[in-house]
Formats: sequence, C-alpha cells, structure tokens
Amino acid sequence: MQNFQGKTAIVTGGASGIGNGIAKALGRAGCNVVIIDARQEAIDQALPFFSQKGYPALGLKLDVTDRDGWEKAADQIAAKFGKIHILVNNAGVAAGSGRLWEGSYKDWDFINGINVSGVFNGIKTIVPRILEHGEEGHIVTTSSTGGAFAVSGSAFYCVTKYAASGLMECLASDLVGTNVKASAFYPGPVNSNLGMSSSAVRPDKFKDENAVPPAPPKDIDVSAMMSMDFTKIFMTPEEVGERVVRGIRRGDLFIWTHPEFKAGMAIRNQAILDAFPLEPQNQNRAESLKMFGTLTYNPVYETQVLLGAPGLPDWPEIETAK
Ligand SMILES: NC(=O)c1ccc[n+]([C@@H]2O[C@H](COP(=O)([O-])OP(=O)(O)OC[C@H]3O[C@@H](n4cnc5c(N)ncnc54)[C@H](O)[C@@H]3O)[C@@H](O)[C@H]2O)c1
Repeated sequence: MQNFQGKTAIVTGGASGIGNGIAKALGRAGCNVVIIDARQEAIDQALPFFSQKGYPALGLKLDVTDRDGWEKAADQIAAKFGKIHILVNNAGVAAGSGRLWEGSYKDWDFINGINVSGVFNGIKTIVPRILEHGEEGHIVTTSSTGGAFAVSGSAFYCVTKYAASGLMECLASDLVGTNVKASAFYPGPVNSNLGMSSSAVRPDKFKDENAVPPAPPKDIDVSAMMSMDFTKIFMTPEEVGERVVRGIRRGDLFIWTHPEFKAGMAIRNQAILDAFPLEPQNQNRAESLKMFGTLTYNPVYETQVLLGAPGLPDWPEIETAK
C-alpha cells in the first residue's frame, strides 16, 4: 500500500507501547487512526497526541475477546470514518507459564484467548469489510521473536506468538488475488508496559494463581541481568511503529525489527531443513503431490522482497516520529 492518506487504520492495544508507536506512525502517514484498547485510562492518555498533531483519531474501549463488541466497534468506525483499510492486531499479553507442564489451565486459556482468538476475532470482523469495498488493504499481527523460535520458560507466550505468525501466513495465502495483504510482525525487545497491562487485564479471579513467579530459564544469568542497562536492548515504540508502516508500504510478508535475532532464526530454520531425509524423492509421489496446489509449495513466500542495508538505494528511510 503506497498511499495512506485518508485511509482508516485500526490498531488494537493502540493505547500503549508498540501499538501506540504504530498508531502514531500511521497517523503521521496520513491515516485516520482507531485506537482499540481494553483500558479506557490508557486510551484517554493516548488520544491527546493525535488531537495535538491534527491526526484524525477515534478511541474505542474493547476487549479483543469480545466478539459482539468487535461488530459494534466496526459499525462505530464505519459511522465515523467510512471504509476501513488497515487492521493491526497488536493487543497481546504475557502470562508466565514457566516450564510448559507447570503452567495453569487458566493462564493457558487467558493468553490464548487474547493472543490467538483475539486476533482471529479481528480478522473475522474486519477482513470481509475490507474485501467488500475492494480498495487496497493490509492486515498486520504482532507476533514476537518468541513466535519464531522457542524461549525456555516462556512456553505459553511463544506458543501463542507462533500461532499469531501462522495466522498471518495463512491469511496472506488466502488473500492472494485480492487487493489486501498480510504481514507477521516480529518485534524484538521494545520499551513498553506489557508486564503492567497484562496484569491489569487479567481477570481478578485468576490473580492468586501461580503466585510464585516461574523460575527463569536455565541459560540466563539473573544477577548479571539485574545490573544490566535495559535501554541498550530496547527499541522505542515510535521506531518500531515506523518499521511497521514501512513494511505495509513495501507489502512485506514478514516485518522484523532487531537484526540481532537473524542468526538464531537461521539456525532454527536450518535445523528443520536438516531433518529432511536425504533419500531421493519418490517420483510417483512427487507427481501426484503437484495436484495439491500449495500443499508442497506456496508462492506467497516468494513475495517477500529483500530488505537492504541502511545507506543502500533500496533502504527506505525510517523517519523518527516527533
Ligand atoms: N514489548 C516487547 O518487547 C514486545 C516484544 C515482542 C512482542 N510484543 C508484543 O507486542 C504487543 C504489544 O505489547 P507491548 O509490549 O507494546 O505492551 P503494552 O502493555 O505497552 O501494550 C499492550 C496494550 O494491549 C492492551 N490489551 C491487552 N489485552 C487486551 C485485550 N484483551 N483487548 C484489548 N486490548 C488489550 C493493553 O491494555 C495495552 O494497552 C503484544 O502483542 C506483545 O506480545 C512485545
């Protein structure tokens, strides 16, 4: 999508952290911005930025798990701005599972409800509305580096983020031939309020469960971590927001922020390739499998264009949000 002017973009979890950075970047690009969030006080804090900048914006209190609420919100957005073009499924929570078998059923349902079903609810409500008007559209879902390779001690979070990425790869495949694209977004560490907001949206009846915090992963030196300057690893929400807008502009299937995670990703992908049997293909089977369309090969992965290096002509500038 090249032209953002006057287009309407919804950002869930848009009142804080990464979602707020994306909302600001979309406003800056010319969109009408709809901030959806479960916390009204965070919406109230976020909206003045948009009025000060003169960016058209609407704040809606909605829990992304509320399916009827999604329909009502879509109608409210249509009444205010008309057609919807962009949906950023960014609202998410962290729920410490510790080792996978130690996590509680309540935490499992809580985190899957928001990080997975919440994303599907947004897609189910908004994508048909975008397809109906036929103009360009784009769907982004915030996954995580933890949605690309496993992190010990964070199983529940990783599993939901793998699902978030899978939802976008499937959606992009189903959208081939339409005017709408989809991106899986993999932020590395970003300065945000995830710990506080995850606890704030967690139902009271869950609060005393898992009162003992899960043990940190074996490979992390906690004492060294306590004295670490965390500002060194965090990107700002504004910077990642600009990277998301760049990804939408380029039509990227995958949007990454931190190049520091590339080597780990390569090793994980290589492990999968290494596990294929080195025996020759069975030609009868290979011929028959060709009839099954994208079962063995999906051209959607070939749509991802190389993102160059800073300074090279194909490096799209990331302007710092003001
Ligand atoms: N901060 C990071 O380092 C990081 C890294 C990778 C991925 N992520 C992901 O980025 C996304 C945004 O998180 P953040 O780090 O900016 O945290 P944040 O707390 O600053 O923002 C998340 C927002 O989502 C809202 N939210 C939570 N549950 C909701 C629900 N059920 N319905 C509607 N809104 C809800 C919260 O109220 C909050 O305003 C999440 O999906 C998170 O998993 C964060």
